[in-house]
Amino acid sequence: MKLKKCKECNSLINVINECNCNNNSIKCCDQDMVDLVPNSTDASFEKHIPEINISDNYIEVKVNHVMEDEHYIEFISYVGDDFEFIKYFKPGEEATIKLPYKKGSKVYSYCNKHGLWMKEVE
Ligand SMILES: [Fe+2]
Repeated sequence: MKLKKCKECNSLINVINECNCNNNSIKCCDQDMVDLVPNSTDASFEKHIPEINISDNYIEVKVNHVMEDEHYIEFISYVGDDFEFIKYFKPGEEATIKLPYKKGSKVYSYCNKHGLWMKEVE
């Protein structure tokens, strides 16, 4: 999973294939969009990192974060070698998903204020 953000207008994109034309990058507001690096924001790890429970060949993911109008988890993404699943949330909803277990996949959570977080599925 590769997310890019515009520092100017905060638009966010999910990159399937990166642009490498003549060393150019994907642009927004006349400037290069920057890569989002998981777990790099100075904020509470416990409130943002996906909590993973595995049972009966399913993973249940929960993010113990507030889901308020101004501050909430926008999505949880479950990413493996050949799949990517994204569940979007609205304020007031519970940030949780349940999907088939796949060892070595990664779970991402995205907070509208504190950015991208990731935990690998063991
Ligand atoms: Fe947050």
